[in-house]
Amino acid sequence: MYLNRRRFLAAGSVALGALRGMPAAAAGSKLTATKSPFSTSEEPTPLEAITHYNNFYEFGTDKEDPSKNAYKLRTSPWSVKVEGAVAKPTVLDLDAIFKIAPLEERIYRHRCVERWSMVIPWIGFPLNALLKRVEPTSKAKYVAFESIYDSKTMLSPQYAGIQFPYIEGLRMDEAMHPLTLLAVGLYGESLPNQDGAPFRLVVPWKYGFKSIKSIVKIRLVEKEPSTTWNLSASNEYGFYSNVNPERDHPRWSQAKERRIGEFRMRDTAKFNGYGDQVASLYTGMDLVRKYF
Ligand code: MTE
Repeated sequence: MYLNRRRFLAAGSVALGALRGMPAAAAGSKLTATKSPFSTSEEPTPLEAITHYNNFYEFGTDKEDPSKNAYKLRTSPWSVKVEGAVAKPTVLDLDAIFKIAPLEERIYRHRCVERWSMVIPWIGFPLNALLKRVEPTSKAKYVAFESIYDSKTMLSPQYAGIQFPYIEGLRMDEAMHPLTLLAVGLYGESLPNQDGAPFRLVVPWKYGFKSIKSIVKIRLVEKEPSTTWNLSASNEYGFYSNVNPERDHPRWSQAKERRIGEFRMRDTAKFNGYGDQVASLYTGMDLVRKYF
């Protein structure tokens, strides 16, 4: 199955179009996407691992829990509010989200702060396409994101050990960077629930916890927003959280990582290997002691 899919993906543009009349985002629907020059040529991690080794604390704290429990997430109907320091605040439903910009396949490295990594063939569009549409005002210095939270179908914050709803944030220039993706799918199909359906953020040069799942609110703000992991342990998880082998986590080294499926640890690349594109965003900032 996996090999067939790989061969198929290699054959050209990503997949069959969605069936006529079918909503763009029905679970497991095929997506059409063009290939992106931002993709790595590294071998993608098998679909099985991408969908059964997850962090989605709302559905459990063990890696296999989200694949077992995320079926409880209702992804349709869905809407996202885009508000705050913008000239044109808006509420988008799923069809509108899928029409914001042409879909691209972006094969990105994905590095978790816990030292494992994958290579994921995402499908999505740049976050900047959505942000431009709402016309940010001069007060928009940061973007704050919020995940869905439903206490009836998800863990309680006490049990998960972090606050819900899960919240994250980016500085405006990070949010506008062409690498920053809103993903609606992977491996040629709409996102599996456990990977953050119906759409999630992907910021490939930062630790995976910045890539917030199942987004329901995007707010443009003047001050640096709070973020879930920083609220839970501010000395361990900073606001920036750029992948950085020189800044160790207080409880473990970040110099090496384990690519899922490999035995030996490999060296961690600064900015997860995206330094040529993003290092200039942080000129003059002390990324080890201050802006970690
Ligand atoms: N988003 C929400 N809402 N809840 C979470 O627990 N976990 C984060 C991030 N986004 C998380 C989240 C972490 S720690 C990582 S490493 C990535 O999602 C994992 O994404 P994946 O399961 O698709 O690999």
